[in-house]
Amino acid sequence: MARSALLNVMVQAAFKAGKSLSRDFGEVQNLQVSVKGPSDFVSQADLRAEKIVRDELMKSRPTYGFLGEEGGEEKGTDGAHRWIVDPLDGTTNFLHGIPQFAVSIALERNGEIVAGVIFNPATDELFTAEKGGGAFLNDRRLRVGARRVLSDCVIGCGVPHLGRGNHGKFLVELRHVMGEVAGIRRMGAAALDLAWVAAGRLDGFWEADLSPWDMAAGILLIREAGGFVSDMAGSKTDMFGTGSVIAGNELIQKALVEVANRPVPSR
Ligand code: IPD
Ligand code: CA
Ligand code: CA
Repeated sequence: MARSALLNVMVQAAFKAGKSLSRDFGEVQNLQVSVKGPSDFVSQADLRAEKIVRDELMKSRPTYGFLGEEGGEEKGTDGAHRWIVDPLDGTTNFLHGIPQFAVSIALERNGEIVAGVIFNPATDELFTAEKGGGAFLNDRRLRVGARRVLSDCVIGCGVPHLGRGNHGKFLVELRHVMGEVAGIRRMGAAALDLAWVAAGRLDGFWEADLSPWDMAAGILLIREAGGFVSDMAGSKTDMFGTGSVIAGNELIQKALVEVANRPVPSR
Protein backbone atom coordinates (compact mmCIF):
# COMPACT_ATOMS: atom_id res chain seq x y z
CA MET A 1 0.00 0.00 0.00
CA ALA A 2 1.48 3.36 -1.09
CA ARG A 3 1.13 6.28 1.30
CA SER A 4 1.39 9.90 0.19
CA ALA A 5 4.18 12.04 1.63
CA LEU A 6 1.62 13.89 3.73
CA LEU A 7 0.18 10.71 5.19
CA ASN A 8 3.70 9.56 6.00
CA VAL A 9 4.32 12.76 7.94
CA MET A 10 1.12 12.12 9.92
CA VAL A 11 2.05 8.49 10.59
CA GLN A 12 5.53 9.44 11.80
CA ALA A 13 4.05 12.07 14.14
CA ALA A 14 1.57 9.52 15.52
CA PHE A 15 4.34 6.93 16.03
CA LYS A 16 6.55 9.42 17.83
CA ALA A 17 3.76 10.59 20.16
CA GLY A 18 2.71 6.95 20.58
CA LYS A 19 6.18 6.05 21.81
CA SER A 20 5.97 8.74 24.47
CA LEU A 21 2.45 7.63 25.48
CA SER A 22 3.58 4.00 25.70
CA ARG A 23 6.38 4.95 28.07
CA ASP A 24 4.00 7.01 30.18
CA PHE A 25 1.37 4.26 30.12
CA GLY A 26 3.88 1.91 31.71
CA GLU A 27 4.35 4.45 34.51
CA VAL A 28 0.59 4.92 34.88
CA GLN A 29 0.20 1.20 35.45
CA ASN A 30 2.68 1.49 38.35
CA LEU A 31 0.82 4.47 39.79
CA GLN A 32 -2.59 2.74 39.90
CA VAL A 33 -2.21 1.69 43.51
CA SER A 34 -1.61 5.19 44.86
CA VAL A 35 -4.73 6.79 46.41
CA LYS A 36 -4.58 9.98 44.38
CA GLY A 37 -3.89 8.01 41.23
CA PRO A 38 -1.86 9.19 38.30
CA SER A 39 -4.08 12.08 37.11
CA ASP A 40 -1.45 14.87 37.23
CA PHE A 41 1.00 12.60 35.52
CA VAL A 42 -1.55 11.79 32.79
CA SER A 43 -2.18 15.49 32.11
CA GLN A 44 1.54 15.87 31.54
CA ALA A 45 1.58 12.80 29.27
CA ASP A 46 -1.23 14.34 27.23
CA LEU A 47 0.58 17.68 26.87
CA ARG A 48 3.85 15.94 25.98
CA ALA A 49 2.11 13.94 23.26
CA GLU A 50 0.48 17.03 21.75
CA LYS A 51 3.81 18.88 21.70
CA ILE A 52 5.46 15.97 19.90
CA VAL A 53 2.69 15.78 17.29
CA ARG A 54 2.66 19.55 16.81
CA ASP A 55 6.46 19.80 16.47
CA GLU A 56 6.59 16.93 13.96
CA LEU A 57 3.76 18.26 11.81
CA MET A 58 4.92 21.88 11.93
CA LYS A 59 8.49 20.88 11.09
CA SER A 60 7.28 19.35 7.88
CA ARG A 61 4.45 21.82 7.00
CA PRO A 62 5.23 25.06 8.87
CA THR A 63 2.53 27.09 7.13
CA TYR A 64 -0.44 24.89 8.05
CA GLY A 65 -2.86 25.78 10.82
CA PHE A 66 -3.14 23.56 13.90
CA LEU A 67 -6.12 22.75 16.08
CA GLY A 68 -5.19 20.59 19.07
CA GLU A 69 -7.36 19.60 22.00
CA GLU A 70 -4.83 20.83 24.54
CA GLY A 71 -3.35 23.93 22.91
CA GLY A 72 -6.38 25.13 20.94
CA GLU A 73 -6.22 26.84 17.59
CA GLU A 74 -3.13 28.28 15.89
CA LYS A 75 -3.82 29.95 12.58
CA GLY A 76 -1.44 29.13 9.74
CA THR A 77 -0.35 31.40 6.91
CA ASP A 78 -1.69 28.75 4.53
CA GLY A 79 -5.43 29.37 4.90
CA ALA A 80 -6.37 26.13 3.12
CA HIS A 81 -4.78 23.56 5.43
CA ARG A 82 -5.22 22.73 9.10
CA TRP A 83 -4.25 19.79 11.28
CA ILE A 84 -6.90 18.60 13.75
CA VAL A 85 -5.31 16.62 16.58
CA ASP A 86 -6.32 14.70 19.68
CA PRO A 87 -2.97 13.68 21.17
CA LEU A 88 -4.61 11.25 23.61
CA ASP A 89 -8.14 10.04 22.96
CA GLY A 90 -9.41 7.74 25.68
CA THR A 91 -7.83 9.63 28.60
CA THR A 92 -9.99 7.90 31.20
CA ASN A 93 -8.91 4.50 29.89
CA PHE A 94 -5.25 5.61 29.90
CA LEU A 95 -5.59 6.91 33.45
CA HIS A 96 -7.00 3.58 34.60
CA GLY A 97 -4.41 1.44 32.85
CA ILE A 98 -6.87 0.24 30.17
CA PRO A 99 -5.05 -0.18 26.83
CA GLN A 100 -7.74 1.40 24.64
CA PHE A 101 -6.48 4.87 23.73
CA ALA A 102 -5.05 6.55 20.65
CA VAL A 103 -3.40 9.50 18.96
CA SER A 104 -5.73 10.93 16.31
CA ILE A 105 -4.50 13.24 13.54
CA ALA A 106 -6.59 14.60 10.67
CA LEU A 107 -5.73 16.97 7.84
CA GLU A 108 -8.36 19.43 6.71
CA ARG A 109 -8.09 21.03 3.27
CA ASN A 110 -10.51 23.83 2.39
CA GLY A 111 -12.91 22.69 5.08
CA GLU A 112 -12.84 19.01 4.11
CA ILE A 113 -10.97 16.18 5.88
CA VAL A 114 -8.61 14.61 3.33
CA ALA A 115 -6.40 12.39 5.49
CA GLY A 116 -6.65 10.71 8.87
CA VAL A 117 -4.45 8.63 11.15
CA ILE A 118 -5.49 6.91 14.39
CA PHE A 119 -2.79 4.99 16.26
CA ASN A 120 -3.18 2.86 19.36
CA PRO A 121 0.36 2.39 20.69
CA ALA A 122 -0.77 -0.25 23.21
CA THR A 123 -1.84 -2.63 20.43
CA ASP A 124 0.36 -1.23 17.65
CA GLU A 125 -2.69 -0.79 15.46
CA LEU A 126 -2.40 1.99 12.91
CA PHE A 127 -5.55 3.08 11.10
CA THR A 128 -5.04 5.34 8.07
CA ALA A 129 -7.18 6.83 5.34
CA GLU A 130 -6.81 9.29 2.52
CA LYS A 131 -9.76 10.70 0.64
CA GLY A 132 -10.37 8.51 -2.39
CA GLY A 133 -7.60 6.09 -1.40
CA GLY A 134 -9.41 3.72 0.97
CA ALA A 135 -8.95 2.96 4.66
CA PHE A 136 -6.35 0.63 6.16
CA LEU A 137 -5.46 -1.13 9.39
CA ASN A 138 -1.68 -1.41 9.16
CA ASP A 139 -1.45 -2.78 5.59
CA ARG A 140 -4.88 -4.37 5.40
CA ARG A 141 -7.64 -2.66 3.43
CA LEU A 142 -10.75 -2.05 5.53
CA ARG A 143 -14.44 -2.49 4.81
CA VAL A 144 -17.28 -1.74 7.22
CA GLY A 145 -19.30 -4.72 8.47
CA ALA A 146 -21.79 -6.28 6.07
CA ARG A 147 -24.55 -7.21 8.55
CA ARG A 148 -27.96 -6.15 7.31
CA VAL A 149 -30.20 -6.29 10.37
CA LEU A 150 -29.75 -4.66 13.75
CA SER A 151 -30.52 -7.88 15.60
CA ASP A 152 -27.18 -9.31 14.34
CA CYS A 153 -25.17 -6.19 15.20
CA VAL A 154 -22.77 -5.16 17.95
CA ILE A 155 -23.08 -1.41 18.34
CA GLY A 156 -20.68 0.93 20.12
CA CYS A 157 -21.73 4.08 21.92
CA GLY A 158 -20.41 6.85 24.10
CA VAL A 159 -21.93 7.35 27.55
CA PRO A 160 -22.00 10.95 28.78
CA HIS A 161 -20.12 11.25 32.04
CA LEU A 162 -20.34 13.23 35.23
CA GLY A 163 -21.25 16.84 34.56
CA ARG A 164 -21.35 16.46 30.77
CA GLY A 165 -23.90 15.80 28.05
CA ASN A 166 -27.59 14.98 28.29
CA HIS A 167 -27.92 11.87 30.47
CA GLY A 168 -31.71 11.59 30.09
CA LYS A 169 -31.59 11.74 26.29
CA PHE A 170 -28.82 9.14 26.17
CA LEU A 171 -30.78 6.76 28.40
CA VAL A 172 -33.77 6.97 26.05
CA GLU A 173 -31.51 6.25 23.04
CA LEU A 174 -29.91 3.35 24.88
CA ARG A 175 -33.26 1.90 25.87
CA HIS A 176 -34.38 1.91 22.25
CA VAL A 177 -31.15 0.63 20.71
CA MET A 178 -30.54 -2.12 23.27
CA GLY A 179 -33.95 -3.57 22.51
CA GLU A 180 -32.97 -4.13 18.88
CA VAL A 181 -29.33 -5.25 18.75
CA ALA A 182 -27.14 -8.25 19.59
CA GLY A 183 -24.92 -6.26 21.93
CA ILE A 184 -23.77 -2.79 22.98
CA ARG A 185 -20.19 -1.79 23.82
CA ARG A 186 -18.73 1.33 25.46
CA MET A 187 -15.02 1.18 24.65
CA GLY A 188 -14.13 4.70 25.84
CA ALA A 189 -12.12 6.25 23.01
CA ALA A 190 -14.32 7.80 20.33
CA ALA A 191 -11.58 7.99 17.67
CA LEU A 192 -10.93 4.27 18.05
CA ASP A 193 -14.66 3.51 18.16
CA LEU A 194 -14.98 5.10 14.73
CA ALA A 195 -11.87 3.28 13.46
CA TRP A 196 -13.40 0.02 14.74
CA VAL A 197 -16.56 0.69 12.73
CA ALA A 198 -14.33 1.16 9.67
CA ALA A 199 -12.71 -2.19 10.52
CA GLY A 200 -16.06 -3.98 10.88
CA ARG A 201 -15.43 -4.80 14.56
CA LEU A 202 -18.36 -2.65 15.56
CA ASP A 203 -21.32 -2.73 13.17
CA GLY A 204 -22.30 0.77 14.20
CA PHE A 205 -21.67 3.54 16.70
CA TRP A 206 -23.38 6.59 18.10
CA GLU A 207 -22.31 9.36 20.44
CA ALA A 208 -23.32 12.97 21.13
CA ASP A 209 -21.31 15.98 22.27
CA LEU A 210 -18.03 15.06 20.65
CA SER A 211 -15.36 17.55 19.60
CA PRO A 212 -13.83 17.89 16.12
CA TRP A 213 -10.57 16.18 17.21
CA ASP A 214 -12.53 13.11 18.41
CA MET A 215 -14.22 12.64 15.05
CA ALA A 216 -12.22 14.15 12.19
CA ALA A 217 -9.95 11.22 11.32
CA GLY A 218 -12.50 8.54 12.24
CA ILE A 219 -15.27 9.87 10.00
CA LEU A 220 -12.94 9.77 6.99
CA LEU A 221 -11.88 6.22 7.89
CA ILE A 222 -15.50 5.04 7.94
CA ARG A 223 -16.38 6.73 4.65
CA GLU A 224 -13.25 5.34 2.99
CA ALA A 225 -14.22 1.89 4.28
CA GLY A 226 -17.59 2.22 2.52
CA GLY A 227 -19.58 3.29 5.57
CA PHE A 228 -22.01 6.08 6.28
CA VAL A 229 -21.88 8.74 9.00
CA SER A 230 -24.44 11.38 9.93
CA ASP A 231 -25.26 13.43 12.99
CA MET A 232 -27.84 12.12 15.50
CA ALA A 233 -30.69 13.60 13.48
CA GLY A 234 -29.57 11.83 10.32
CA SER A 235 -28.28 15.05 8.72
CA LYS A 236 -24.81 15.87 7.44
CA THR A 237 -22.15 15.56 10.16
CA ASP A 238 -21.12 18.89 11.63
CA MET A 239 -17.93 18.47 13.64
CA PHE A 240 -17.95 22.10 14.71
CA GLY A 241 -21.70 22.26 15.32
CA THR A 242 -23.85 19.42 16.64
CA GLY A 243 -20.84 17.22 17.44
CA SER A 244 -22.87 14.02 17.28
CA VAL A 245 -22.37 10.96 15.09
CA ILE A 246 -24.22 7.84 14.05
CA ALA A 247 -22.27 5.46 11.84
CA GLY A 248 -22.46 2.06 10.21
CA ASN A 249 -22.94 0.54 6.80
CA GLU A 250 -25.69 2.12 4.71
CA LEU A 251 -28.50 -0.03 6.16
CA ILE A 252 -27.34 -0.08 9.78
CA GLN A 253 -26.62 3.64 9.93
CA LYS A 254 -30.15 4.38 8.66
CA ALA A 255 -31.71 1.89 11.06
CA LEU A 256 -29.78 3.34 14.01
CA VAL A 257 -30.91 6.88 13.18
CA GLU A 258 -34.52 5.67 13.20
CA VAL A 259 -34.26 3.66 16.41
CA ALA A 260 -32.18 6.16 18.43
CA ASN A 261 -34.60 8.97 17.59
CA ARG A 262 -37.82 7.17 18.55
CA PRO A 263 -39.92 9.31 20.86
CA VAL A 264 -39.68 8.86 24.62
CA PRO A 265 -41.94 5.97 25.66
CA SER A 266 -45.00 7.13 27.58
CA ARG A 267 -44.21 4.86 30.55
C1 IPD B 1 -13.20 11.35 25.11
C2 IPD B 1 -13.30 9.95 24.56
C3 IPD B 1 -14.57 9.28 25.03
C4 IPD B 1 -15.79 10.10 24.70
C5 IPD B 1 -15.65 11.51 25.25
C6 IPD B 1 -14.39 12.17 24.70
P1 IPD B 1 -10.73 12.27 25.59
O1 IPD B 1 -12.03 12.00 24.63
O2 IPD B 1 -13.29 9.95 23.16
O3 IPD B 1 -14.75 8.01 24.45
O4 IPD B 1 -16.92 9.49 25.26
O5 IPD B 1 -16.76 12.27 24.90
O6 IPD B 1 -14.28 13.47 25.22
O7 IPD B 1 -11.16 13.26 26.62
O8 IPD B 1 -10.34 10.98 26.17
O9 IPD B 1 -9.75 12.85 24.62
CA1 CA C 1 -10.97 12.82 22.61
CA1 CA D 1 -7.87 13.98 24.42
